[in-house]
Amino acid sequence: MRHITLQVSVRDVVFGENVTIIEPVNIYGCKIGKNSFVGPFTEIQKDVVIGEKCKIQSHAFICELVTIGNNCFIGHGVIFVNDLFSTGGPAMRDKDLLKPTIIGNNVSIGSNATILPVAICDNVVIGAASVVTKNITKPGIYAGNPAKFLRSIEGTNTYTTNALNGEISETSESGINN
Ligand SMILES: CC(C)(COP(=O)(O)OP(=O)(O)OC[C@H]1O[C@@H](n2cnc3c(N)ncnc32)[C@H](O)[C@@H]1OP(=O)(O)O)[C@@H](O)C(=O)NCCC(=O)NCCS
Repeated sequence: MRHITLQVSVRDVVFGENVTIIEPVNIYGCKIGKNSFVGPFTEIQKDVVIGEKCKIQSHAFICELVTIGNNCFIGHGVIFVNDLFSTGGPAMRDKDLLKPTIIGNNVSIGSNATILPVAICDNVVIGAASVVTKNITKPGIYAGNPAKFLRSIEGTNTYTTNALNGEISETSESGINN
């Protein structure tokens, strides 16, 4: 029987200076900013933009339409989602059904967290194994499924950052935007 085998690769990537990649990885058509690190067994799909001084730990999956700011930590096994199966199943080749995710600066995402298509403002920590289902508009620590505000981070700004260019509306007390 015929079968098709494709190899993991690093293809059509725009690298800033001093980026470290530990192979094997499957990384294509994306941009990775200077002084960033990408651990092994990671997939980063096309049109993803990763800022400077980011650490993408092993086994992370960063899908199309994800943008990550500077100084971010993406923990081991973190999964981003761009297809909500909104029509009852996978979008397959219908790109119009895919949704974007925007991560601000200084965001640390704990191991095994799942990030649905959302915007997360600057200065946020997401707990291990959390599932982020809504926009986060207030700096702080969030955890659980669905992720909820746990506490503030001492010494960080309390202002709200508009990670999605105005698409985030008013910040609620919980920091979760409905
Ligand atoms: C979310 C996190 C930062 C919270 O730390 P913290 O502020 O010290 O919180 P605490 O340990 O005091 O826990 C506070 C409450 O949140 C709960 N909690 C903590 N982490 C949680 C998580 N990941 N998911 C769900 N609930 C969590 C605790 O059970 C506790 O609940 P309780 O008040 O009902 O007892 C931390 O637990 C975490 O998950 N860090 C991610 C670490 C990581 O993945 N590192 C990757 C490199 S190894």
